[in-house]
Amino acid sequence: MSYDLSKKNSQPKTNHIIDLRSDTVTKPSIEMRKIMADAEVGDDVYGEDPSINKLEKMLSEMLGKESGILMTSGTQSNLCAVLTHCARGEEVIIGDKYHIFIDEAAGASVLGGVAMAPIKTGEDNEMLPENISNAVKPDDPHCPISKLLCLENTVWGKAIDLDKMYKAKSEADKFKLSTHLDGARFFNAISYLGCSEIDLAKSADTVSICLSKGLGTPAGSVLLLPKELESKARRWRKMLGGGMRQAGIFAAAGIYALNNNVKRLKEDQDKAIYLAKELKKYINTSSENIVQNTNMVFFTPQQKDGQRLCSFMNNKGIILNQPLPSTRMVMHLDITDNDLTYILNSFDEFYNC
Ligand SMILES: Cc1ncc(COP(=O)(O)O)c(C=O)c1O
Repeated sequence: MSYDLSKKNSQPKTNHIIDLRSDTVTKPSIEMRKIMADAEVGDDVYGEDPSINKLEKMLSEMLGKESGILMTSGTQSNLCAVLTHCARGEEVIIGDKYHIFIDEAAGASVLGGVAMAPIKTGEDNEMLPENISNAVKPDDPHCPISKLLCLENTVWGKAIDLDKMYKAKSEADKFKLSTHLDGARFFNAISYLGCSEIDLAKSADTVSICLSKGLGTPAGSVLLLPKELESKARRWRKMLGGGMRQAGIFAAAGIYALNNNVKRLKEDQDKAIYLAKELKKYINTSSENIVQNTNMVFFTPQQKDGQRLCSFMNNKGIILNQPLPSTRMVMHLDITDNDLTYILNSFDEFYNC
């Protein structure tokens, strides 16, 4: 069902900053903060934090994996996964638009001596079987050893169908590659695909999930993995400085988010659908491009308007990334119905007044 503001009687006014840059900007709610304050904690490096143990068990059961490890961030979780799968001189085959390749400072190469082989992805940003097989290196001393296939879902907000995920996994299996899924927005993908967590998690041996994006916690990711890889991954986490102590306060926020903020991700998607649809009314879409994927709307203004649009919105208390050439507007739990009306009115003012 699409989102319809007219039924909600929204007023076109707002009294707070509307940050559209990402869903990482969400702030913990009052309820979440209370749960964090009351969390039972212990020393997690000794495995003694009850809240962390509970979160790790909860997520591993939900995804059908044997173990879970709380990490400080998505970047640390992905890095621990790659370093656990690959040794120095081995190689990751990865989508050329994927976060681990583009936006994680090449940590696996810098710290682990792991090579990255980026390949072109398909129209939904999925890994294409023929491109995977072409990228696998022969057993030749001139080449790194192909070891791991890195998947991502959602990619730039785009949810990839299970069928495409499974095809990539079975291509990886043919070459005995391990598989890792960067599921920073795993639950946005589930919400769009309407599948179970176990079904999506089956597409990879290890899965990283972020709690601090659409789910709204202040920090934390969880790496889900087979038991046999757990101690190796915990060693890497320690070495990377991720052995936190009484971090159960974050785990408690994560448990709260899983219980309260997963179902509502559909609202973010509905808001994004509505925003994209309404924007098209104000804007000449033959010269400006609008694309909506799950909770994200990518808007490409004409080059002459980009800078001015950002300043105009900023002056109205709406924060947008500078269009390069497109800007991403992300719906999240701190964007209210009123905010959405206000954003649309501001675009209307910019383009039509
Ligand atoms: C797809 C994807 N993977 C991983 C990350 C890294 O997460 P973090 O910022 O927690 O390191 C991000 C961050 O935005 C992301 O979008």
